[in-house]
Amino acid sequence: MAQNSLSIKDNRTGKEYEVLLEDNHLRASDLEKIKLSETDEGLVAYDPGLTNTAVCKSTITFIDGEKGILRYRGYPIEELAEKKSYLEVAYLLIHGELPSETQRKEWTHHITIHTLLHENLKVFMDGFRYDAHPMGILVGTLGALSTFYPDAKNVRDEASRRLQIYRLIAKIPTIAAFAYRHSQGRSFIDPSNDLTYAENFLSMVFRPSTSSRYEADPDLAKALDLLFVLHADHEQNCSTNAMRSVGSSLADPYSCAAAASAALYGPLHGGANEAVVRMLEEIGKVDRIPDIIRDVKAGKRRLMGFGHRVYHNYDPRARIIKKMAQRVFEITGKNPLLDIALELERIALSDDYFISRHLYPNVDFYSGLIYQSMGFPVDMFPVLFAIPRMSGWLAQWQENVSDAEQRIVRPKQVYLGKAERHL
Ligand code: ACO
Repeated sequence: MAQNSLSIKDNRTGKEYEVLLEDNHLRASDLEKIKLSETDEGLVAYDPGLTNTAVCKSTITFIDGEKGILRYRGYPIEELAEKKSYLEVAYLLIHGELPSETQRKEWTHHITIHTLLHENLKVFMDGFRYDAHPMGILVGTLGALSTFYPDAKNVRDEASRRLQIYRLIAKIPTIAAFAYRHSQGRSFIDPSNDLTYAENFLSMVFRPSTSSRYEADPDLAKALDLLFVLHADHEQNCSTNAMRSVGSSLADPYSCAAAASAALYGPLHGGANEAVVRMLEEIGKVDRIPDIIRDVKAGKRRLMGFGHRVYHNYDPRARIIKKMAQRVFEITGKNPLLDIALELERIALSDDYFISRHLYPNVDFYSGLIYQSMGFPVDMFPVLFAIPRMSGWLAQWQENVSDAEQRIVRPKQVYLGKAERHL
């Protein structure tokens, strides 16, 4: 019997099975051989929410949720946040290594020259209702991009994949900014090739008009770039799973990215930063916090920005963001909701309900306050999350379509409905 294996005895039949282990996992398909009878389809693993199912082998992002560790391609998030720009980190996620100086220049050039949107796409975006949620506009527009680039269907072709990766990383800030301008009833501002990735985005969002000048505060642009680094990837989360899952049918990356953004839109995922600020606004005063905590403990509501499927410790990104928030508020003035957030965190972290469930602030708890202080309306927050997550989605999509072991995603179910019956 192989030492690296599991012996399973099926007490229903008395039969024994040996299942091989590799890197601390077993192949779920090996469970199929555990049958009650020859016609039985075999044992399945029941795992709603895929909480204990690995859907891929990946070399991109490592998380140790117990210790609060996050690494991209082996580099600790703290080091990348301190020393690297978002575009360098995006390169790292896509290529596996940080760029040399020549590679960095080439990469930046390719991203910069693809920032413009086709004029028809602008008309398409203009067709959304005046009060459309910018995240809805983003989801729809990413899907529409697929019709502008039919060459993207060649997902098995490496050169084609590279081109779509440039386009998507380059165009998502432009789409995001246009979605914002549309909701404000203001004309679109085209990208400026002489600006950095974050400065260009801020210019497309906040420049009053094409004829007026706008210069982003360099420290705020840097802070936004740092937020982009922190949000770039997070291994197999809900939206990344959507990206991989849709990609498994060999759909083009624009359609996959639309699906991933739709998954990110939900309040339990990328919509949480929006929900945090709405919750803090609703609380309004520090002395209302005990009532809120009571409701949370009674199961009547959740504390948004708290808890994480993977982290059972302080989210390392939240620690960096909390520190950065102080720097941003020195420039923009303190966000009045900060005191409520700090007090909420203090009370929650000393309360047994939160301690026993390992509920700590996650990345979204403070990011919304920063975005708000920078002048972004709340409904732009999930869009600000989607911009950098595009590089993570694309790295994961590329890994998935290049992985010979991957097949179209087709999960099983446990059928509990009626047995055959007739009219
Ligand atoms: N507030 C209060 N209680 C909570 C919270 C919360 N935010 N999160 C989890 N709990 C409690 C649950 O009620 C449950 O308690 P119980 O055991 O008494 O029933 C226990 O903690 C475990 O919760 P689950 O829902 O099983 O945890 P899960 O891993 O499925 O959910 C999630 C993770 C969705 C992030 C959850 O913590 C949550 O809803 N948080 C608020 C939303 C949020 O901030 N989302 C952003 C996540 S980060 C990101 O996506 C970028």
